[in-house]
Amino acid sequence: MDNVIDFVNVNRDRYLDELKALLAIPSISALPEHAPDIRRCAEWCADEMRRIGLQNVKLIETAGNPVVYGDWLNAPDAPTILFYGHYDVQPVDPVELWQSPPFEATIRDGEIYARGAADDKGQVFMHFKAVEAHMKQNGRLPVNMKFIIEGEEEVGSAHLDEFVRSHRSELAADVVVISDSGMFAKGVPSICYGLRGLVYFQIDLRGSSTDLHSGSFGGALANPGMVLAQMLAQMKDRGGRVKIPGFYDDVVRPTPGELRDLARSGFTVAGFKRDHLLRSLRTDDPIEVMKRIWLAPTFEVHGIAGGYQGPGVKTVVPPRATAIVSCRLVPDMDPKKIVRLVKAFVKKKNRDVVVYAEHELPAYQGKTTGPYADAIRGAMKFAFGKEPVFVREGGSIGAVLSMERVLKSPVYFLGLSLPEHGYHAPNENFDWPQAEGGMAAFADYFRRLGEMRKA
Ligand code: BES
Ligand code: MN
Ligand code: MN
Repeated sequence: MDNVIDFVNVNRDRYLDELKALLAIPSISALPEHAPDIRRCAEWCADEMRRIGLQNVKLIETAGNPVVYGDWLNAPDAPTILFYGHYDVQPVDPVELWQSPPFEATIRDGEIYARGAADDKGQVFMHFKAVEAHMKQNGRLPVNMKFIIEGEEEVGSAHLDEFVRSHRSELAADVVVISDSGMFAKGVPSICYGLRGLVYFQIDLRGSSTDLHSGSFGGALANPGMVLAQMLAQMKDRGGRVKIPGFYDDVVRPTPGELRDLARSGFTVAGFKRDHLLRSLRTDDPIEVMKRIWLAPTFEVHGIAGGYQGPGVKTVVPPRATAIVSCRLVPDMDPKKIVRLVKAFVKKKNRDVVVYAEHELPAYQGKTTGPYADAIRGAMKFAFGKEPVFVREGGSIGAVLSMERVLKSPVYFLGLSLPEHGYHAPNENFDWPQAEGGMAAFADYFRRLGEMRKA
């Protein structure tokens, strides 16, 4: 193992330069004008995968963005790991809040600042480099590996299910590993074993056909902005509980074991507030906060638009208003049922409101036991010097369920970013000690699986 870690240390400067090159490509999947960058980024990953010694590297076309595939299958008796990650990133707005340009990776106080540094290019890059170090030092890998790096995760992985289905045998693996989540805190290694699901909605209300002078019409017309706001205000009570009838019906209550894991995790409300500069929370009970971000469903408004937002004065009753909202889901909520409930609730309040739903993604819950989980536990302890805790995460990854259901392989998360790394936010960053820990953990994980002969 030591020679693999040595290789990572000796090559640190080159690794940083290469990571900077990957982070320089603005592969924003949400914005159509970045389509050429998406392809350039996929090509970059493919070139890198060839450089580090993976075989059969290719871009596989889908109805959306290409998936980058590569493998190394020369360890006949050892298990096969399928590694999943994504090369697309979130938009950068509000860009004026970035302290350095989002696509010019900049190191300040040991942190690497760039869009995608943590979510997910930095983490994908660590896997590439753990493979490279093994290959360069030993001429081979201790396990069989397949990589798929997709380019639509940040917009819901709409084409990944079809991709996995149509490449089922090519993707067959004993275990799926994903590094697209975080560790609990610096110095607190953790393993995520569950993610929330998601349904995403656009809620539209049309009133008149054009802007109307608010002096001549105001008072007699229903204002779409106001009507939509009143509708949203009825979705939750003051404590934050969703009032849509039936919303909580299928929510599984946390088990005593899960509550014990929460209590043991080391989470503190003061730390959470400090890390994220939060002024207040709905509750200051740490168990309650963890339940709300990992184990409970949500209804959140992401944006509300309609009417005039510019400088000066413009007095109109606007013709329409729109809200973008989503619900995070937990086991055993059914996304289709939630869509039905939300639509029915809205229609009952106002027949003119139109609701569009997309990304109907159920929650994922994995296992914390078994040989593959034990290997992850051991690898995290090797890399970070402490026994890891098992936690859940509140985010969603569209591909997870497809891979578990279609490939019938257990999925494990080896997340290495930290809460303060700012996924989706201005000044997203990643730090090299985490990256080094990650490469050590992956390298050790490969080695552990290599020792597990296939049954
Ligand atoms: N890496 C995140 C998922 C994540 C976030 C895992 C926080 C663990 C903790 C991923 O890139 C992401 O942002 N997913 C989207 C999916 C959506 C667009 C369907 C999300 O969760 O909002
Ligand atoms: Mn991600
Ligand atoms: Mn993301």
